[in-house]
Amino acid sequence: MSDTAKLTLGEQELELPIIVGSEQERGLDISKLRGATGAITLDEGFVNTGSTQSGITFLNGEQGILRYCGYAIEDIAEKCDFIDTCYLLLHGELPNEQQRESFRSGIIAEMAIPSGVQDLIRSFPTSAHPMAIISAAIQALSTHRADQMDPLDADQVASATQGLIAALPTIAAYSHRHTAGQTFIAPNPELGYVENFLTMMFADENGEYEIDQDFVDAMNLLLIVHADHEQNCSTSTVRMVGSANSNLYASIVGGICALWGPLHGGANEACVKMLKMIADDNNDVAKYVAKAQDKDDNFRLMGFGHRVYKNYDPRAKIIKKACDVLLEKLDLDDPLFEIAQSLEKVALEDSYFVDRKLYPNVDFYSGVIYRAIGIPVEMFTVLFSLGRLPGWLAHWQEMHASPGKRICRPRQVYTGPTAREIQ
Ligand code: CMC
Repeated sequence: MSDTAKLTLGEQELELPIIVGSEQERGLDISKLRGATGAITLDEGFVNTGSTQSGITFLNGEQGILRYCGYAIEDIAEKCDFIDTCYLLLHGELPNEQQRESFRSGIIAEMAIPSGVQDLIRSFPTSAHPMAIISAAIQALSTHRADQMDPLDADQVASATQGLIAALPTIAAYSHRHTAGQTFIAPNPELGYVENFLTMMFADENGEYEIDQDFVDAMNLLLIVHADHEQNCSTSTVRMVGSANSNLYASIVGGICALWGPLHGGANEACVKMLKMIADDNNDVAKYVAKAQDKDDNFRLMGFGHRVYKNYDPRAKIIKKACDVLLEKLDLDDPLFEIAQSLEKVALEDSYFVDRKLYPNVDFYSGVIYRAIGIPVEMFTVLFSLGRLPGWLAHWQEMHASPGKRICRPRQVYTGPTAREIQ
């Protein structure tokens, strides 16, 4: 096959180089298009647009494949924990024993957050959404880290990377405790990353909490499957903000805000609310499947469909299995899990969903596991952000390391009024 494509535009003919990735994906390089022809490409929602070349995550939506740095998500979920996964995404390789220990202990040592940030969290109304609190708290944290603000200084970026992975679970747990009217529990340097998060979330006022290994395993799994997903909305936002050489903290806050939306990470919260609504409506699954198909109704089945997956989301498969195991082990009978299963069955047999290749996505079953662990629904997207953080960090660093890095600045085709004068 030729390594260029030909574009004919009126009388003009232009050769566009074809960039081929390591998995044989092809991208037409249009970087000379405007200079040569004056025209630009138009692709609302970036459905056909590659924003970069990246060596972090590969996904094939038609075949339901997801790999981090070459390793299948199923393999990582079975053999690694979240800290290994963070290391893998940031360094491109899994850590050896010594690297794991030094990476882990560096993070655990930095989990405490400044009292000024704790005070800020306490200043919010207890009705505040934790996603609003965590984004504000990370910006506040950056004001205590003046020595980590230079995005072009590798040492400062390394410190900021470690500091963010360390601080987010603490900020997340405190955002929950504040809204629940509870005092804050300090991180314990003797505990692991997930164990610390669960303890800071759930310990009583004396700091007592009995760690349940099943919960730790389930949390690790959920964090791993959320850890990266190539150029999704929040990761693209992090790259976009970072492309202006904004500092790492500010870039990550951009990602958190993008993630909050119900079409992206907010879908896990929206999905559980939808399942509850169906439960309260006599479990009338068919009614909601019909609503989702009605073009005059803006209701969508939350947790269904994906921009890239046109097959079962491999992450949903892993989570559904874990969900089954956890509920059985805990001897829990969550009615929402049953509704989710019957909703999935009805939707997967319905031609509307079949024709559009709409399958359950990662957010469909994750909420049922969070509920089993005792995590309140408003915290679901916060947990997604905890999982996605290493992906955001890895992409931000990859972008800065690229010799071709430029500020991200898309074009437009203007459709407003032509020149006129104020009368
Ligand atoms: N329920 C009903 N119809 C749907 C749904 C849904 N959940 N998702 C897509 N469709 C229909 C849509 O109406 C359209 O139909 P038509 O061709 O007749 O106009 C067709 O399927 C294609 O949808 P689209 O909106 O053009 O697809 P998109 O790629 O722009 O959107 C999506 C992808 C994930 C935003 C969308 O499927 C959706 O809104 N899903 C529900 C929200 C959700 O679960 N989001 C979490 C995604 S996974 C976590 C993450 O990585 O962010």
